[in-house]
Amino acid sequence: MIACSTGDVDETRAVGGAVAAVAATGDVVVLVGDLGAGKTAFVQGFAAALGVTAAVTSPTFTLANRYQGRLVVNHLDVYRFDGPDEVADLALPELLDDGVTLVEWGDTITADLPADRLSVTISFGDGPDDRRLDVECVGESWLRRSPSLRAALEGWPRG
Ligand SMILES: Nc1ncnc2c1ncn2[C@@H]1O[C@H](COP(=O)(O)OP(=O)(O)OP(=O)(O)O)[C@@H](O)[C@H]1O
Ligand SMILES: [Mg+2]
Repeated sequence: MIACSTGDVDETRAVGGAVAAVAATGDVVVLVGDLGAGKTAFVQGFAAALGVTAAVTSPTFTLANRYQGRLVVNHLDVYRFDGPDEVADLALPELLDDGVTLVEWGDTITADLPADRLSVTISFGDGPDDRRLDVECVGESWLRRSPSLRAALEGWPRG
């Protein structure tokens, strides 16, 4: 587990950007945290670091947003998902093959996600703009990259 503290939205974006440096097609990043924690902010920084120039907003009316950068970035928000039917509609296997996939509220559909994933849990800190990000490698592919991830996140105050 790697813990980072951020003091404003741009710092959370920067942590997302640092994580993107070690990401590859086929990866899944699960974003956990309450409303307004900064999950979308993390995706914004992640996508920007991969050269996505389009504005990244939560996919509220579509199941998934797809952005083209150095890699394809799929952005899902499953907060309003009703159950297994909607998860099935995602056609997850095809989606995952196509790019790197970030799932807001992904902890609610873990049974449908690959065992290999990066889990990012964002929690609120003392001040209104303080956040703590706990980054956890789950499964072999992420555990193998855990040293590079640690290096990429070097410099962020440990929470
Ligand atoms: N350190 C911080 N990191 C991230 N966001 C911050 C921080 N400080 C303040 N904010 C603000 O908190 C809000 C985070 O919004 P964001 O949409 O990223 O949250 P979210 O977790 O995606 O919420 P939702 O569950 O509604 O999708 C933004 O308004 C942002 O400006
Ligand atoms: Mg969001």
